Amino acid sequence: MSAPHLPPGRRVVVSAFGETPDDAIERQVSLAPTRAPELTAPGDVVVAVKSASVGWVDLLMSSGQYQHMASPPYTPGLEYAGVVAYKGPAATAELDVGDEVLVDPFVAGPRSLGAYQGSGGWATYAVVPSEALLRVPRGMSLDAACNLLGNYETAYHCLVARGRVRPGETVLIHGASGSTGLSAVQLAKLLGARVIATGRSPDKLAVVSAFGADHVLCTRDEEGGLASLRERVRALTGGRGVDVVYDGVGGEISLESLRCVAFGARYLIVGWAATPLVARGRGGRGAPNANALPTNLIMMKGLDVLGCPTAISTAHDPSLRPPRLAQVLAWADEGKLTPHVSRVFALDEIKAAMWAKWRGEIVGGAVVRP
Ligand SMILES: NC(=O)c1ccc[n+]([C@@H]2O[C@H](COP(=O)([O-])OP(=O)(O)OC[C@H]3O[C@@H](n4cnc5c(N)ncnc54)[C@H](OP(=O)(O)O)[C@@H]3O)[C@@H](O)[C@H]2O)c1
Repeated sequence: MSAPHLPPGRRVVVSAFGETPDDAIERQVSLAPTRAPELTAPGDVVVAVKSASVGWVDLLMSSGQYQHMASPPYTPGLEYAGVVAYKGPAATAELDVGDEVLVDPFVAGPRSLGAYQGSGGWATYAVVPSEALLRVPRGMSLDAACNLLGNYETAYHCLVARGRVRPGETVLIHGASGSTGLSAVQLAKLLGARVIATGRSPDKLAVVSAFGADHVLCTRDEEGGLASLRERVRALTGGRGVDVVYDGVGGEISLESLRCVAFGARYLIVGWAATPLVARGRGGRGAPNANALPTNLIMMKGLDVLGCPTAISTAHDPSLRPPRLAQVLAWADEGKLTPHVSRVFALDEIKAAMWAKWRGEIVGGAVVRP
């Protein structure tokens, strides 16, 4: 079933998994023309993609080093927003052609688990089922909207579902200038916590402060490095240490963080941006380079170490999603959560966008506009 009157478009293609994301960007990523989109079911909708996020997971997936693998050749773009360009005969009556929509990455796109994995957002069009369509939060731009769900749902899963953060507690957030980290800073403040945020760049940390962090600690060597982290965190917490660590960075900083905690703290394993090549490349399974934490410190500090894989946890327990999604969308509607987008790229610049994300040149989110 083809969608009439829509002109042809273009899409990004990952032809095969790279050895690493660098290798995938260099050798496997290209732009290809597409014919007018075809519907697969009468309830489908064609979305003309206006904004798609360029996320860390999009990069890891391009080398098959993310836990969930798309099937090459595929179109990346986990999260995107656009306008309804065409509705199938049985599509939702609640939206009309021309309406702005946000596509639910759990229902369509490369991170979804059903029949619409092929509908990535780095393309002119995406064909999605009606149930993938969400309203764009009030007053939110499409660039911001495509950076909402993955980031804030992750922050929510980690800080609320796993971390049980309470008002007045102190949370240490690593990778705070990143997409998920900046969302965690905003969410932790909304939950009434005090936030100590870390990063390697004073310029990026200035944005983190503007988004509400109470204290920012630069971990680059000129500013005292990781060696002084414990001392600096202890000075900020009256010698007690933090109640919760949100660790999206991994590696050396994890080890130092185990010395920055109060007895009985919760340690949230969110990711490992500093050691991304944990798993084998080219989609090979196994994790020869996995990070390790010392059991002696975990034991003596009485720590709760909590793994926080948002999508995997939701697949195991689907009841986690509805309250999380409803709360994130409600806060977004109220203007309490606002994704920060620091760079916007055209589809022709997709490799530059991927490099910028991979090299840590982005604060918060990056967007490609097909
Ligand atoms: N648990 C989940 O469900 C879930 C969901 C999404 C993502 N993740 C994971 O969370 C991690 C962060 O994701 P993200 O989307 O926030 O990534 P991101 O936007 O690239 O941010 C990562 C941040 O980590 C910091 N960082 C510190 N040391 C680094 C190093 N050596 N190399 C690169 N970055 C370093 C960087 O901040 P500075 O430059 O300021 O130091 C950067 O802003 C990733 O491992 C990702 O796979 C987990």
